[in-house]
Amino acid sequence: MKTVAVYPGSFDPITNGHLDIIRRGLRIFDELIVLVAYNPNKQYLFSIEERVEMIKETIEEKERVHVDASCGLLVNYVKKSGATIILRGLRAVSDFEYEFQMALINRRLDREVETVYLMTGYKWFYTSSQIIKEAASLGGSVKGLVPDIVCEKLREKYMIGRKG
Ligand code: PNS
Repeated sequence: MKTVAVYPGSFDPITNGHLDIIRRGLRIFDELIVLVAYNPNKQYLFSIEERVEMIKETIEEKERVHVDASCGLLVNYVKKSGATIILRGLRAVSDFEYEFQMALINRRLDREVETVYLMTGYKWFYTSSQIIKEAASLGGSVKGLVPDIVCEKLREKYMIGRKG
């Protein structure tokens, strides 16, 4: 039987830290669904379509990785897709409380779904899409933190923002 895990997140935009989790997740699971999911606490820079497109363009292992989007409850998506696992990356201490809450509520909503955490690689420990956007919006270089095509999209986005 194939083990399928859903890797959900905002991916606004996808970073090299996310790609590291995808690469390592593929060593554990047969297939991964990278899911652009809705976090009601966030305001997004990129549309769902733009985020899905950037992920598709940067994924190397196309056969075992699928990309999708969902606006509903995560556990419902997991069940519907035939997966049993939610994969998340865990960074510095600040992530822990939120992730703990998420894992508990998801388990309460569906006891057959387990959340598995991978510790983020040390290179990405203190980076986040949020801090990358802040640097890029102020003209800072984020090369090396996100794939090159994402660097380009960030540049375009903030240039349009400055003109408009
Ligand atoms: O990258 P993020 O923003 O930390 O990802 C959070 C995300 C999108 C995975 C989370 O908000 C989520 O699962 N959203 C879908 C709605 C849901 O099922 N929420 C948890 C149970 S209330």
